[in-house]
Amino acid sequence: MSILIKGGRVITAADDYVADVYVEDERISLIGESLDQPADKVIDASGKYVLPGGVDPHTHLDMPFGGTVTIDDVESGQTSAAFGGTTTHVDFIIQPAGATFGEALEEWRAKANGKQVIDMGYHMAVTDLKEGGTLEELATLPDQGITSYKLFMAYKGALMVDDETLFRTMEVAAETGALVMVHAENGDAIDVLVKQALAEGKTEPKYHALTRPPETEGEATNRAIQLSRVAGSPLYVVHVSCAEAVEPIQLAREKGWDVWGETCTQYFFVDYTFLERPDFEGAKYVYTPPPRDKANQDVLWNAVRTDVLSAISTDHCAFLWDGQKTLGRDDFSKIPNGGPGLENRLQMIHEFGVRAGRISLNRMVELLSTNPAKLFGLYPRKGTIAVGSDADLVVFDPEQRVTISAATHHSKTDYNLFEGTEVTGTPELVLLRGNVLVEGDELVASPGIGQFVARAKFGQELRAAQPVA
Ligand code: URP
Ligand code: ZN
Ligand code: ZN
Repeated sequence: MSILIKGGRVITAADDYVADVYVEDERISLIGESLDQPADKVIDASGKYVLPGGVDPHTHLDMPFGGTVTIDDVESGQTSAAFGGTTTHVDFIIQPAGATFGEALEEWRAKANGKQVIDMGYHMAVTDLKEGGTLEELATLPDQGITSYKLFMAYKGALMVDDETLFRTMEVAAETGALVMVHAENGDAIDVLVKQALAEGKTEPKYHALTRPPETEGEATNRAIQLSRVAGSPLYVVHVSCAEAVEPIQLAREKGWDVWGETCTQYFFVDYTFLERPDFEGAKYVYTPPPRDKANQDVLWNAVRTDVLSAISTDHCAFLWDGQKTLGRDDFSKIPNGGPGLENRLQMIHEFGVRAGRISLNRMVELLSTNPAKLFGLYPRKGTIAVGSDADLVVFDPEQRVTISAATHHSKTDYNLFEGTEVTGTPELVLLRGNVLVEGDELVASPGIGQFVARAKFGQELRAAQPVA
């Protein structure tokens, strides 16, 4: 199959020019002016942007959590991603207590088999590390293309690890070339605050935020940074939500340490007051770290503009409001933590980042595609438009107006964090390795087209296609 995309404005992290892009056998094989290669399909992209497919480094599909399972499985989550212009994501395998990493990987691969709509990789969330077993096994994961380890410093009694496990994982990463990712909140302090709030009869959704003050995120972020320095591993702090966490990352980066951070779309738009919405509607916004005071939103825009934070993910962890979030109607600590967002990242950041003049188009591409690809061992196969790269491409119509709504999104969840938001600019056509995934309102490709991608180690490049399944 060959495709010629004609006359689009090709935008990468570095460039912005009008050109034709020729795709052959799943890769970009030629970029130039007025190409006249014979092609099976010719796409007129004049007046449109041609962007590299989005790379979302932080999602939770078909994941058991909070007494239930996230509502989007691989098929619905990845369909949602495809409509939003994301063609690769990296999902979290959660090591079940007592299981080996091999068993966990097998379980997650079984959930994905035959359902994949886009390409994907996995991070391994370490919950249970034992000498003479999983500690040694951890070191084998990077050679299987799983080149990032995730540690939860919160969710006491569930996913949280102690500092010993965190530090030992960092030591393994320093040896194996993996990147360590942390959910940075002080889970012990939060656990005390949650118990105190409940004992005082404070049960509404807003107490989710009031028991997780920003200082608990700042403290854990700084702790992880300092421990990663001792261990000698690179560190990536996920879902940074507030100034207290931005500050230690900024300091570390100024010092030239191997520390990186991301924030997520929702932290720019949803603030603490959303949790106060009546009739339990606030539960829709119970995710962790929680929505913060509005003043943090400018801090985050500034951080992504200045490369203090280097990526924007979605942390897509979707639950139904009616039937799943309602598990916590009488107790905020029982509301499953997480929100949807895979489909709307590009639309929202284009509208409120680029169109609002906060970041350039190049920086948007860097934050949503190029940097995640580089940090997670997918670049330059993913994350750019270049000869030899996978033809993961988005033809983006910068003039089309869309109203974001749960009535039209492709996630299975019954609400949208950005309900009613009007944006100008949306993907019109999405290609995965040269296969048309989405055209207008239609999903063209069938599940099964997506592949597992074995990622390169931290700091290394991924060039040849290495599909495993
Ligand atoms: O509330 C959230 N963010 N749920 C997903 C799990 C995590 O902490 O990333
Ligand atoms: Zn988290
Ligand atoms: Zn997450």
